[in-house]
Amino acid sequence: MTDATLTGRLRDIVGERHCLTDPELRASHETDWTRRFSGRALAVVRPGSVGEVAAILRACADAGVGVVPQGGNTGLVGGSVPRGGEVVLSLLRLSEVGVVDLEAGEVTAGAGATLSAVQAVARATGWDVGVDLGARDSATIGGMVATNAGGVHVLRHGPMRRQLLGFEAVLADGTILRRLPGMPKDNTGYDLGGLVAGSEGTLAVITATRLRLVPRLAHRAVAVVGFADTASAVAAAADLRRTLGSIMALELFTDAGMELVMRHASVAPPFADRRPVYLLVEAGSEDLEPIDGLVAALEPFGVGDAAAVAGDPAGRHRLWQLRERHTEAMNAEGVPHKLDVSVPLARYAELVDQAPSAVRAADPAARTICYGHVGDGNVHVNVLGPAADDESVDHAVLELVLELGGSVSAEHGIGTAKVDWLVRDRGEAAVAAMLAIKRAWDPAGTLNPGVLFPGS
Ligand code: FAD
Ligand code: MLT
Ligand code: ZN
Repeated sequence: MTDATLTGRLRDIVGERHCLTDPELRASHETDWTRRFSGRALAVVRPGSVGEVAAILRACADAGVGVVPQGGNTGLVGGSVPRGGEVVLSLLRLSEVGVVDLEAGEVTAGAGATLSAVQAVARATGWDVGVDLGARDSATIGGMVATNAGGVHVLRHGPMRRQLLGFEAVLADGTILRRLPGMPKDNTGYDLGGLVAGSEGTLAVITATRLRLVPRLAHRAVAVVGFADTASAVAAAADLRRTLGSIMALELFTDAGMELVMRHASVAPPFADRRPVYLLVEAGSEDLEPIDGLVAALEPFGVGDAAAVAGDPAGRHRLWQLRERHTEAMNAEGVPHKLDVSVPLARYAELVDQAPSAVRAADPAARTICYGHVGDGNVHVNVLGPAADDESVDHAVLELVLELGGSVSAEHGIGTAKVDWLVRDRGEAAVAAMLAIKRAWDPAGTLNPGVLFPGS
């Protein structure tokens, strides 16, 4: 089948308006959020129903053309943009959010619904979504399930896979899998939803999800605390996980990162004294003000004038900006190499302290900024300076992570950025088992070719 025949078939399925072939209209779907990854799409198609998704997949399979599922295109590992010549399948029109089941604390959301849209619906009923992240206004529920997104509340509620009670998805041959009634207990064979979660668009296209909600905690408090070094901050974080029962988030950033945030996002420092490393701690509770408990839990660290605590929404927001706006500050400085990794908590300080010198050994002019979800052992090592296709600093950081017994991807996934590292991290046997599943579900390799497995 020629490209023109395929695009003709796609137009018949979704309508002229939703099959984009004009380069200007395709452009925002062809480059990722960091601007490090891009490729040309044959077309961008925007289906309006699960039936249309199935028909598109059948047409692409018949034509032997790869399909790149895409949600909000906020993914940071190159998995959401074409490598060259694929069809981008944008799920943004499948954005319906259902009525919250108040008794069960569950909601059905279309794959294209943004996290903030689902949060708004849930919060209006006293429930909330267990996962939260800075890209909430653009990241979609489908993309978040596909990447098993983490975010800032994993230590309390777990990542996206843990929120998934049911799903609807389409296999590469157009077969529709649907099990949407949410049942917290459902031991009927393989957990297919759990498998699709984290598969990064390589096994199936998610079209709808049934999500477990968590109680909305009306009372919150946030503190930003300064430390003299990384090891003291990590030791405090480890302690707080045990002593602060109301803990919601534990985030770490450095003074160098805060400097960039202040420059690019016009955010004020938390207190007059600058310290090399900071912890952001969030506590939440249903019926008690958690601020007293938070202040008491911080007491043993003697942080005194290097602490800012806020219970009011504006103050909390201001403190959160210091951490959350790191991503856009990195982008404002250049095209970052983003290495999202995790290590056992006992090795966390080593990684944060050694990453800059490992990077400098590979590229003396490169700048390294670390921040991350310390409560989960997750560091985001961001490197500024090297060209987008120069992988020497990526290699230096990932080698260090493996030496420290860590994982090369904590929450962003493998995408195309880290395909060469999957076997190093998981081992031949595990990757062979993954490939066997991939070949059974998608024998022709139509779905997201080049993601997870090189040359797939
Ligand atoms: P996309 O970027 O469109 O796609 C991501 C991957 O999922 C691709 O491989 C794509 O093919 C696949 N995919 C998308 N939709 C579907 C679907 N319906 N079916 C099958 N496959 C699909 N991530 C975190 O984990 N934690 C964070 O704290 C965090 N913070 C962020 C903050 C900012 C400012 C930004 C820009 C990103 C952040 N991210 C974070 C990364 C990103 O937001 C997540 O990976 C998110 O889950 C991606 O959702 P998306 O809809 O944008 O997916
Ligand atoms: C974050 O925690 O801020 C995100 O995962 C995005 C990033 O790594 O910049
Ligand atoms: Zn993160």
